[in-house]
Amino acid sequence: MSAARETRRSRFRALLAVSVVVLSACDSLPGKPDPADRYVRPDAVMDFETLFAANCTGCHGEGGRQGPAPLLGDPLYLAYAGPRELRRIVSDGVPGTSMPAFLDEKGGTLRAAQIDALVAGMQASWGMAGRFAGRRLPPYRGTRGGDAGLAYARARGRASFQIFCAKCHAAQGGGTPKAGSVFEPSFLALVSDQGLRTAVVAGRPDLGMPAYYAHAVGRPMSDEEIADVVTWMAAHRVEFPGRPFSQAAPFVGKEP
Ligand code: HEC
Ligand code: HEC
Repeated sequence: MSAARETRRSRFRALLAVSVVVLSACDSLPGKPDPADRYVRPDAVMDFETLFAANCTGCHGEGGRQGPAPLLGDPLYLAYAGPRELRRIVSDGVPGTSMPAFLDEKGGTLRAAQIDALVAGMQASWGMAGRFAGRRLPPYRGTRGGDAGLAYARARGRASFQIFCAKCHAAQGGGTPKAGSVFEPSFLALVSDQGLRTAVVAGRPDLGMPAYYAHAVGRPMSDEEIADVVTWMAAHRVEFPGRPFSQAAPFVGKEP
């Protein structure tokens, strides 16, 4: 056998060995499923973006913004709510509103570890913990003052509303071209007092509503003003939202 032939043969063997190694390491031979497309059981999903898109985007909007449900994708909101409250709300839901309980033990569809992944993901993707370090934010939960103080709180809330809110929502909250009514009975029937408080503190920067410190009257709202405005708005709830319809269109002469 000639030396040249021997070299060619050994080169060929080396090439064969390399291609066998390369091809067997390659997972995308025709007909072989891509590992990324393999079915993952819903209770095994741990990726934040996948969890948020599948469970939350429909109400809270993409990136937690511009949805019909409250703003979540906002550094001020996330610093004000904090991980403990977020975990509690996502686990238990908000009774009396359309925010469902997600924890499996509460009838939801997510495991506690998945809820932790959602909370950590919201903070990591949309929060800016450093920006609010050392800054005092209004507490997440407001005080309401006992019933004895309620009438006063409402009166004060009405006054604060004129200072901070009326320029966009109108003096009686009926709305202006800049913003809608905040006393609309159907709106108040679907939102909790805490939901109102969150709107006042964090605002809706995604929709053009400023946060509690940015109402351009030269100072932020105080804790008491925030609580009073919420008390005043909540006092506008009606017992039977939707009832005016039957008065507006009476079945005159048509009763069976
Ligand atoms: C069917 C609609 C719906 C879905 C789905 C939904 N939410 Fe909500 N969520 C709401 C509504 C409505 C509220 C406001 C409740 C209120 O008035 O306090 C809310 C409130 C919240 C709040 C509290 C806001 C505050 O005031 O501090 C958090 C946090 C939250 N949702 C997170 C989530 C996460 C995370 C998911 C997905 C796992 C999710 N939500 C899915 C409708 C929804
Ligand atoms: C610069 C204008 C502006 C000011 C000032 C303002 N708002 Fe708003 N507000 C808006 C806009 C815009 C929206 C979103 C669109 C809409 O509801 O019409 C909104 C929405 C809201 C909502 C609904 C939030 C939601 O998540 O759906 C509430 C509640 C509210 N405002 C209360 C208040 C209160 C209380 C004040 C005063 C403390 C206030 N606003 C001040 C413009 C304003």
